[in-house]
Amino acid sequence: MKRLASYCFVFATFAAVTGMGMGIFMAASHDHSLAPAHAHLNLLGWVSMALYGLYYQTHPEIAARRLALAQVSLAVFSIVLLIPGIVIANLGGTELPAVIGALLALASMLLFLGITVAALIRDAQTV
Ligand code: HEM
Ligand code: HEM
Repeated sequence: MKRLASYCFVFATFAAVTGMGMGIFMAASHDHSLAPAHAHLNLLGWVSMALYGLYYQTHPEIAARRLALAQVSLAVFSIVLLIPGIVIANLGGTELPAVIGALLALASMLLFLGITVAALIRDAQTV
């Protein structure tokens, strides 16, 4: 997809704004119980999505592939499931959304591994 890197950055920034809001709320309320959800929203949402975006920005031919769109969609979906899932689990509720979100986050990272390794092999074959 043509604008895949920009979509990564828009989502990453949305995660950063939400994560920072959560951080300020924790600091102001002196209640740090949301720290794991805050940490992973920032690290998977802001940092990892921005890194995916940087890779796709510098590899537009790979970003154009449907597999790249699938990888980013899976990453977004996993974060949307994992972060509320951590909050629910921390509040003593079901762990199911957090477990599914975590497995999907891992799946999207494994897909990214496949995409980057395949690109490296293609590169090596053309020189
Ligand atoms: C407005 C910005 C931010 C504020 C006010 C904020 C605030 C906080 C607070 C109050 C805690 C809980 C600390 C504790 O219980 O020990 C925390 C934990 C954490 N924050 Fe932030 N944060 C901000 C941005 C970020 C960003 C941008 C990242 C990552 C890119 C981040 C990563 C973390 C991590 C990993 C933890 C967990 C640390 C631990 O448990 O040892 N934070 N933050
Ligand atoms: C499938 C994805 C992930 C899962 C299921 C996961 C799970 C966990 C768990 C269970 C903890 C312990 C939380 C606690 O003691 O309260 C933790 C802590 C932590 N993780 Fe992750 N993690 C994931 C991805 C990541 C990534 C991608 C990063 C960094 C880029 C990261 C950075 C951290 C940090 C800094 C801590 C310590 C902060 C804290 O205790 O809240 N994690 N993670």
